[in-house]
Amino acid sequence: MTSYESLFPPRTIKAVGDTYILGIESSCDETAAAVVRSGEELISNVVYSQIATHHPYGGVVPELASREHLRAIVPVVRKALADAGKTYETVDAIAVTRGPGLAGSLLVGLSYAKGLAFALDKPLIAVNHLEGHIHAVLLEERQNGNDELQFPVLALVVSGGHTHLYLAERRDSGWTYRNIGHTRDDAAGEAFDKVAKLLELGYPGGPVIDFLAQHGNPNAVKFPFAQIKHRDRNPQNRHSGDEQRTDFSYSGIKTAVLRYVEVHTMADSIQHRRAAMKAIARPTPQDYLAACDRHTLDLVASFQHAVVDDLVSKTLSAAMEHGVATLLVTGGVAANSELRKTFEMRAAEEGIPVLFPSRKLSTDNAAMIAAAAYPRFLAGEFAPADVSSDAALRLG
Ligand code: KG4
Ligand code: ZN
Repeated sequence: MTSYESLFPPRTIKAVGDTYILGIESSCDETAAAVVRSGEELISNVVYSQIATHHPYGGVVPELASREHLRAIVPVVRKALADAGKTYETVDAIAVTRGPGLAGSLLVGLSYAKGLAFALDKPLIAVNHLEGHIHAVLLEERQNGNDELQFPVLALVVSGGHTHLYLAERRDSGWTYRNIGHTRDDAAGEAFDKVAKLLELGYPGGPVIDFLAQHGNPNAVKFPFAQIKHRDRNPQNRHSGDEQRTDFSYSGIKTAVLRYVEVHTMADSIQHRRAAMKAIARPTPQDYLAACDRHTLDLVASFQHAVVDDLVSKTLSAAMEHGVATLLVTGGVAANSELRKTFEMRAAEEGIPVLFPSRKLSTDNAAMIAAAAYPRFLAGEFAPADVSSDAALRLG
């Protein structure tokens, strides 16, 4: 059964005129702040990326991330307000990511937002980061004049930390989510990052692999994926209604790439690239391309092709199983060109519209946090003064 509904619930508290929400996000390695008007217009969006700090380590170092957030949070928030022509006093509420994410990183954003809300006597809204990714799509749809959504909606949140499928519904006081799939081990973005690290392609791996894959043969190496139909044996990952689940697993492909590298004695080529990139302060994707032989490009293209095919096939089969009318694909990996193209093509074959955020709002940002907070603002769902962060916060 398909239904059309407005993207927002009826207002339960009177919002007089426009509502400006200041969003703050610090769950991983981006310190971000943004101002969004009434959940439908991006007024300012500032993202301070810590990539340069973590690049030498091939992944995020949690202690360094917290320290960088502490350094960046005040100037980032000030810039977001200044870019929006707003002041601390003229925003209506503060929204902040409560989880999931790195404990120390979350703590910086939440403590700062709490302090601001208390000092300014403004409402504080605590937002789930995964819900934020979903609202990045809804914000931009509204901004583009698309006020109606066809339900049921299935959202794939695919990032460095998550590969989750949610059936999303709009209820009276906001949105509800039912998790119908998750990764059993590594997230898809994590696999991009780990394969890039193994092949000496820098951090984060997604954007570089996305670029390099366009120069290789995606069918050169076959990486098979299993259909996961048995129940998750980890009791922490159990969900109610577990019978119709679609789970993912991306740890196996990382090991398969490692085996391939060993069997095909690619160590010398990797060492050669490592030495070449050491001589460049900030290597660009073009620099990596110049340091890759055909064999490596084919491997990278085949890896990406396999992950994309698995993500798209499993998501579409879940969409058919649940009679879904609209697909949302969001999170850092949603920036991937092949993923976008493949989803658009295969979802069109099934007659299901698929919506993505712009690339800018695919990866972590605070506009999505401010947008997700708006229905909660209307419903008067404010965080208590003693709200704490939750590194393992679940959605649905
Ligand atoms: O959403 P995000 O910024 O942070 C998390 O919540 O995890 O996602 C970051 C992830 C990283 O793993 C990065 O490699 C991946 O998104 N990513 C991509 C692309 N751009 C970022 N993966 C594939 N292709 C891309 N173009
Ligand atoms: Zn994220």
